[in-house]
This record gives sequence, C-alpha cells and structure tokens, in this order.
Amino acid sequence: MVVVFIVHCLLMGSDVLAFLQDSCTPPECDVEPNGYLYAVRCVGGTFSAFPIIRNCGVNISVLSLENTLISVLPEASIPAGLSTITFIHNPLKNIHVGAFDYCARTLEELTFNASLDGEIPNALNKFVYLRLLDLSNEKITNWNLPVLQKIGSTVKEVRLTNLGLSSWPTWLNYFTAITSLTVDGNNVTVIPDEWLNTVGAQLIELNLRSSLLSRLPEAMSNLTALTFLDLSYNLITHVANIPPHITNLHLEGNKIVEIGDASFMQMPYLRYLVLDGNPMTTVGAQAFNNTPAVDTLSMTGTNLTRVPMALSDLTDLSILDMSNSVNLVCTCAESGLQTWFEGQRSYYITGQCGSIDIYTFFTTLAKDCPTSVF
Ligand SMILES: *[C@@H]1O[C@H](CO)[C@@H](O)[C@H](O)[C@H]1NC(C)=O
Ligand SMILES: *[C@@H]1O[C@H](CO)[C@@H](O)[C@H](O)[C@H]1NC(C)=O
Ligand SMILES: *[C@@H]1O[C@H](CO)[C@@H](O)[C@H](O)[C@H]1NC(C)=O
Ligand SMILES: *[C@@H]1O[C@H](CO)[C@@H](O)[C@H](O)[C@H]1NC(C)=O
Ligand SMILES: *[C@@H]1O[C@H](CO)[C@@H](O)[C@H](O)[C@H]1NC(C)=O
Repeated sequence: MVVVFIVHCLLMGSDVLAFLQDSCTPPECDVEPNGYLYAVRCVGGTFSAFPIIRNCGVNISVLSLENTLISVLPEASIPAGLSTITFIHNPLKNIHVGAFDYCARTLEELTFNASLDGEIPNALNKFVYLRLLDLSNEKITNWNLPVLQKIGSTVKEVRLTNLGLSSWPTWLNYFTAITSLTVDGNNVTVIPDEWLNTVGAQLIELNLRSSLLSRLPEAMSNLTALTFLDLSYNLITHVANIPPHITNLHLEGNKIVEIGDASFMQMPYLRYLVLDGNPMTTVGAQAFNNTPAVDTLSMTGTNLTRVPMALSDLTDLSILDMSNSVNLVCTCAESGLQTWFEGQRSYYITGQCGSIDIYTFFTTLAKDCPTSVF
C-alpha cells in the first residue's frame, strides 16, 4: 500500500515531468504539461533512434521532433493517444507501415516539414480522424494517391508551402472536407474552376502567396464561405471576382495598375485590405462604394499621384497607410476629403504627399483651400 502510494505521489505534478525527463526521453527532449496531458519536444541532439517514450505511464498528446538524426520509425513506435505530431528537418527514410498504429485513432494534426524521403508514407493510411495535414517544404515525387484518397475525407486544413508544385495538385479533390488551404511559394499559374466550384460552399481560408497567378478566375466568386484570401506576391493585374463574404484580403506585391469602380463589388464584411507595392496609378472615385466596413487600408509603395477621393466612402476606417508613395501630391482638388478626415472617430494615417504628412495636409492646410473647388 505504502509503496503504491509513494509511486503515485511521485508521479504527480512536476515529479511526472522529472520522471519523464529522466527515464523516458533523451536529454534533448523537453516535457511540458499540456492541459491534463503532456507535450514532448525534442530538438537537435545526436540520438538517431526513436525516443523511448511510449511506456512512460502518462499520456503524451503532442510530440515534436526537430533537427534530430532520426531516420527510422519502427512499428508501433509512436506513443498511444497522441493528437499532434510534428516532424521538422529529420532525415526520415524508413517509416514502418505500422509506425502510427498506437495513435491511428487519436491523431488529429500531422506535420512533415523537410523530413520525408520523397514520398507520402503508407503508414498514414491508418489515420481515421486526421484534421490537419502539413507537408510544407517537402520535396515529394511519389504522392501515393491511394493513401491521400484514404485520409482525405476527414482533413479540414491542408498546408502545402514550398513544395515545388508547378501546377495545381489535382489530388486535392480527395480532400472533400477541406475548409482551409495554403499553397504558398509554389509556381501555380491556374486554380481549376472545377475545384473552386466543388469547395465553394465550405472553404473559409485560402492562402496562395508567392505564386504565378495572373488573374482571379470567375469561379472564385463562387467561394461563398471564404472570409480570408491571401493572393499576395503573384502576377495579378486586374482585380475582379473577389468572393462576397471576405473579411481579409491580401493583394500586396502584385501588378495591379488600377483599382476601378467595379474592382470590389458587394463586400459588406471586408475589414482588412492590403494593396501595398502594386504599381497602381489610379483608384476610381466609386471604388470603395461597396466596401463600407473597411477598417484598415494599406496602400504603401504604389504609383498613386493623388489621395483617392473614394476614401470618403470608408466611414469606419481607422488605419490608412499610404507611405512610400513617392509620386503622391496633395492639392486643393483633394481638399474635399477634409470633412471626411475630420469625421473619422479615430484613425492613424501614415504617409506623405510631397514633403508634408497627409494627416497634416488634411487637418490644417486643406482649410486654406478656396471653397470654390468643392
Ligand atoms: C491514457 O490513454 C489511454 C488510452 O488512450 C486511456 O485509456 C487512459 O485513460 C489515458 N490516461 C490518462 C491519465 O489520460
Ligand atoms: C518549417 O520549419 C522551419 C524550421 O526549420 C520553419 O522556419 C518553417 O516556418 C516551417 N515551415 C512551415 C511552413 O511551417
Ligand atoms: C518557379 O519558377 C521560377 C521561374 O519563374 C524558377 O526559377 C523556379 O525554379 C520555379 N520553382 C519551382 C519550384 O518550380
Ligand atoms: C458558379 O456557380 C454557379 C452555380 O453553381 C455555376 O452555374 C457557375 O458556372 C459557376 N461559375 C463558374 C465560373 O464556374
Ligand atoms: C511606377 O513607378 C515606377 C517608379 O517610380 C516606374 O518604374 C513604373 O513604370 C511605374 N508604373 C506605372 C504603371 O506607372
């Protein structure tokens, strides 16, 4: 009785941490409480065998292996009960088909980041509740489509950053539950209409930064659930077909030369709009007519010569950044915006027109303009 009691005490609170640290994991691994469970993170070190953490007597929910020398994942080596596994920069070569057997029914989030040996492992076949799959920075040549088809139906979030893709991955069609997709840093030129129309009612977030898109396909306006869209650093010249329920829109670093009156159609929820670094020369007078909720507007480093009169439709704007727009001048022709500037409840306005701050111009100098120009 006494012995049992002592062991029980030993395995409570911080003693569990010490026990795990000393007896169950290599010294390179840190053990942290994660709610009622534990998170183990192993960074670097020289160990190349899988850490012996399966029989530690407490349940681990999160396991992260970073910059280790582990190349083999033996059968049933991954602990039971895990919900999250992250592999970052490991030379994995030999993953036993049964490596994940003990956590096959509990794992929800799986990340391989520069760790796989060119193929999707058969071992992934076992997962039944996988919710997130991150394959960023992998160089995959064998996509193992039967495995992707098997696990695709439960996965909601897919991250495919820097995979060296040169076209749209058609296997995404297997991911029928998807709500969030990241395909940053690939050479994708076209998003297929068929895919957009298939996920139209469910996709909430789409990140496609640093790719080679030159236009926004018409079917993109069919993404009726989408709230977050990042198409920054592409080759887009013309703004159109933005989905209607967007709240955050990133279009910085594109080739947009004009924001026209029809660029943004009905977008009542758009709050955050970033247009930095586009060679825009004009913004139509009605351009923001249909985006009344914009709260933050960033248009730095553009070729605008004038402060857009269209700003007067943004009555909820609190942050406006037009800095680094070297061609910008403020003249009495824009002084009509003064009333709008003064009506804003709170705002931060950054940027200069010529040698004066835009803010100073509208709050002081515009008052001296002849009223006849209004
Ligand atoms: C540990 O996990 C096993 C199986 O997943 C479960 O039966 C057990 O209750 C868990 N123990 C704790 C302390 O959470
Ligand atoms: C991949 O891992 C590296 C660390 O080595 C990290 O900086 C990077 O953000 C990770 N990539 C993604 C997309 O998570
Ligand atoms: C993407 O295209 C650029 C040239 O446009 C090329 O230099 C680069 O290697 C390509 N990257 C991939 C991953 O295909
Ligand atoms: C958008 O969806 C509608 C209704 O489902 C469909 O008729 C139309 O063809 C779709 N647009 C495109 C460009 O695919
Ligand atoms: C924008 O300005 C840059 C430098 O000021 C210039 O090289 C470029 O041609 C301009 N683009 C347009 C579309 O006016």
